[in-house]
Amino acid sequence: MSDWTEVGLVGGIGPGEHRLVDVDGTPIVVCNVGGEFFAIEDVCTHDGGRLTGGCIAGDEIECPRHGARFSLRTGEALCAPAYEPTATFPVRVEDGIVYTRDDRWDD
Ligand code: FES
Repeated sequence: MSDWTEVGLVGGIGPGEHRLVDVDGTPIVVCNVGGEFFAIEDVCTHDGGRLTGGCIAGDEIECPRHGARFSLRTGEALCAPAYEPTATFPVRVEDGIVYTRDDRWDD
């Protein structure tokens, strides 16, 4: 099973903010949505742009390049020009610290 990677202190990622972490070579954006944390791969499926720096509205993040939006909960592409989902990852909060991990290849 993949290891959890520390993202940061809960209080260090405020509502509407996000933080980029590298998890074994995979860039993952962890977003705070009203106190709930979600993790999504920092890759837009339209043209490989980065979602880092994109506007977060509700539980959606907008790609800063051409405006595709993705669900932070499911990774689903919500509007053109992206049609394929991007990956989402589990998040754990323990003792005031946020963790995520890339579980795509776990058995
Ligand atoms: S690279 Fe994200 S919308 Fe084009």
